[in-house]
Amino acid sequence: MPEPTYDYENVLVEIAEGIAWVALNRPAKRNAMSPALNEDMRRVLIDLEGDDRVQVVVLTGVGESFSAGMDLEEYFRKVDQAHPSVQIHVRRVNAEWQWKHLMDYSKPTIAMVNGWCFGGAFVPLVGCDLAIAADDAVFGLSEINWGIPPGSVVSRALAETVSSRDALYYIMTGRTFTGAEAEKMRLVNSAVPRARLRDAVTELADSLKEKNPVVMRAAKIGYRKSRLMPWELADDYLYAKLEQSQYLDREGGRQSGLTQFLDDKTYQPGLGAYDRSNSVES
Ligand code: COA
Repeated sequence: MPEPTYDYENVLVEIAEGIAWVALNRPAKRNAMSPALNEDMRRVLIDLEGDDRVQVVVLTGVGESFSAGMDLEEYFRKVDQAHPSVQIHVRRVNAEWQWKHLMDYSKPTIAMVNGWCFGGAFVPLVGCDLAIAADDAVFGLSEINWGIPPGSVVSRALAETVSSRDALYYIMTGRTFTGAEAEKMRLVNSAVPRARLRDAVTELADSLKEKNPVVMRAAKIGYRKSRLMPWELADDYLYAKLEQSQYLDREGGRQSGLTQFLDDKTYQPGLGAYDRSNSVES
């Protein structure tokens, strides 16, 4: 298959050393998410998933913002006036990339929160598997300040990550908080000084790149989907996931791992990944 090209008006994609840096690209509007940007992002995520050059996807924003949330003009005011079928389409595309694709994405994803992060932006933030923020990035659930409750699945995304006390506090007050506070409440994995942000994300992405991709997919999707299952169902599903990953894993990771630890004594799985350099399909 020819390599996809990423020539989009509202999204910038750079691929380097296995990492796709995907940046929402409407800096003049603080990367507010318009229907056109959502269409671009849906396409970008689909194409990156099938792009063999890419092992890890990083989502960020151009300039000083991650994203100022849904575009109040393009996503709300204009769509409010459109035919209901337009509204349905616009909401569907929004949901598709912001959480449906991301929650089910076969490659690891990291949100790199480089600045303003408001309202609707919490959905792709939580949709990404992991998140690192600049410690001075500013987050807020500003909806209450401009006359709506948090829309789309913003509240559901909060319930996925932070405590009820934190969620309700920020939903009800509309106050802002920093990247450092987001780390404390576990909305992001860590917050680092802005100057270190890209390096910290690269380091994390590099460590994910070392892992067996088939097993990575089974591990993260298995976690996400089993969270809400009763234990009996989760037990069956997760064993099926494990067996599926062994069936699909043409590099035979489990066998290599066991051999390298038990027989060759060349590595310790508690402390790092097995050597994949001689894997059949690596
Ligand atoms: N929707 C549409 N346009 C937006 C936007 C949004 N969510 N956020 C910012 N913009 C636009 C502004 O209207 C302005 O456009 P203009 O230059 O054509 O007038 C431009 O982006 C810059 O905004 P400004 O407020 O001047 O930037 P700032 O850097 O001083 O402040 C924010 C940044 C994010 C604090 C501020 O823009 C803001 O409060 N935005 C709304 C955030 C929000 O409530 N999002 C929730 C939506 S669900």
